[in-house]
Amino acid sequence: LKGQYPHFMLKEIHEQPEAIADTIWSLATLDPPALYFDDLGPAADRLADIERVVLIGMGTSLHAAMVGQRYIEAFAGIPADADNASEFRYREPVLDDRTLVISVSQSGETVDVLEAMAVARQAGALQVTVCNTAGAQTTRVADGTVYTRAGLERGVASTKCFTTAVVALYLLALRIAQAKGRLSDRELALHLHDLAQLPRAVSEVLRQQDLVRKRAVSLAAAQHVLFLGRGLAFPVAMEGALKLKEVSYIHAEGYAAGEMKHGPIALIEPSFPTVAIATRHALRTKMISNIEQIQARGGPVTGVVTEGDAELTALCDAVLTVPAVSSWLEPVAAVIPLQLLAYDVAVHRGCDVDQPRNLAKTVTVE
Ligand code: M6R
Repeated sequence: LKGQYPHFMLKEIHEQPEAIADTIWSLATLDPPALYFDDLGPAADRLADIERVVLIGMGTSLHAAMVGQRYIEAFAGIPADADNASEFRYREPVLDDRTLVISVSQSGETVDVLEAMAVARQAGALQVTVCNTAGAQTTRVADGTVYTRAGLERGVASTKCFTTAVVALYLLALRIAQAKGRLSDRELALHLHDLAQLPRAVSEVLRQQDLVRKRAVSLAAAQHVLFLGRGLAFPVAMEGALKLKEVSYIHAEGYAAGEMKHGPIALIEPSFPTVAIATRHALRTKMISNIEQIQARGGPVTGVVTEGDAELTALCDAVLTVPAVSSWLEPVAAVIPLQLLAYDVAVHRGCDVDQPRNLAKTVTVE
């Protein structure tokens, strides 16, 4: 079942170019440029009336939701928030029938997501779920579904379900923008053209596995690792930290780089490495100054940078590179080296990569 791969996690990381392409082209065509959301059901006709969006999820799915929030604000021009479903369900969230709640869940069975959806239903909100599992519970509760086409994910650490959820949310944000009259045919064509380049870019990153493995050897001895990003790279930093901690048991934190001076910088010393996501569009110049501040305190920095970025390559102590992709798609490209890094560190430390201690693939009880 794992074929040539020693672990499901590695196999699933390598399945991403195909999973991403399958997800994109199940929801869109390039010629003619068009979006097809066959499972939106009654939600399809109500998108035009939506005034606000709340995205909910847990773990990796929450990180995908955080990327989706930024897409919806930018493309559809309506307020959007991303929230942890376990917090949302116990608050008194203000929702109405003009609020769209988008739940993101690969399994569609996560208890906190289902309970949060029950709260949303009670308030009369419109609901769409982004799910990887046909017929799962979230798809039965929601008014409409956007399926990701990642195929079965067995590794407890979610990889291909993150990247496919991000592209599904990208297309859903375009669909909402279209319903709101904010997306021209030409703009749609440009977005689809960008998406069409993505699977190849991801394949290119995957070819760097040997380089990542070298980096992993030096990080494997760390007790703590900080992941930093800004803008679209902030959720990527969160996801990089989650991947590392769950499979390698190294303490890792994902932070918005702007928070550094508000506390985390106190931790920096030579034995505390940082991974900085500083690709071309990820508020790069701000990230450069964060990196310099860390290095001034003796902290070693591994940068995730765009290929050909000589300045950052010279500045960082080590770099992992990703090909240039459209700014909106950088989270997908940038997360790949972080997935590989987490995997390689865990293997190097002799951890059970596919079945980390204390974790279940699907969390169906609180
Ligand atoms: O099935 P879901 O997407 O709802 O699962 C959500 C989280 O439990 C899941 O992403 C978890 O954080 C993974 N172990 C992350 O790799």
